[in-house]
Amino acid sequence: METVVVLTGAGISAESGCNTFRDNNGLWRKHRVEEVASPYAWQHTPQLVMDFYNERRKKLFTAQPNAGHKALVKLESKYHVIIITQNVDDLHERAGSSHVLHLHGELKKVRSTIDPTLVYELDKWELKLGDLCEKGSQLRPHIVWFGEAVPMIEQAIEMAKKADHFIIIGTSMAVYPAASLINYIKRSVPMYYVDPNATSISDSNLQIIKEKAGVGVPLLVELLLNG
Ligand code: APR
Repeated sequence: METVVVLTGAGISAESGCNTFRDNNGLWRKHRVEEVASPYAWQHTPQLVMDFYNERRKKLFTAQPNAGHKALVKLESKYHVIIITQNVDDLHERAGSSHVLHLHGELKKVRSTIDPTLVYELDKWELKLGDLCEKGSQLRPHIVWFGEAVPMIEQAIEMAKKADHFIIIGTSMAVYPAASLINYIKRSVPMYYVDPNATSISDSNLQIIKEKAGVGVPLLVELLLNG
């Protein structure tokens, strides 16, 4: 069975009502996202960081997977599909994708600030200052903040090397190391980029589909299943 590796970004969840990062000039409550999603902000303005993630987590409880997420599940009938996502929502999982790797963490998980191996599922939308882990330290969002290491990148690179087809969906390809995954795709591998603002980011055989995910992904999946 051939392997399809899919790199997704905020754009695939846009039609589910989740804001992207760089629309609205990348601002949230007049703050740059890079300023809020950072260890510095957690240290100096922890409530602002809590508000940023609580607001997004609350939206996630009502968001539903869209046609883009669902089409990727259909692809599993013919291919081994590996989703490498920059998104912290659980919409790929809720759509039914079998293999999802979160490069930047997961919004519905929190972890201890004294022992990072203590990770918990959050069954409510609000995490508060004073919510503690079993060792008595403050819980933080289980998110990779700007300036922090991306522990899953090595695993993602190994998966990218195995791709027989590579699909990029809904990402500005502006953030590293996620955007560097394209460099690990074998040159002979067909690549597709589904994004209304997609640009030619690679000299190799990249097919651009300038559509929203809800339209472009089902079209591409149809091509890969029956083309
Ligand atoms: N369908 C497909 N793509 C869309 C849609 C849509 N309906 N709407 C917007 N897009 C595209 C935009 O054209 C853009 O290329 O989604 C992309 C969103 O880009 P960003 O906002 O930069 O999001 P992303 O690429 O996921 O950001 C990467 O940066 O802020 C950090 O950690 C954060 O994971 C995030 C990373």
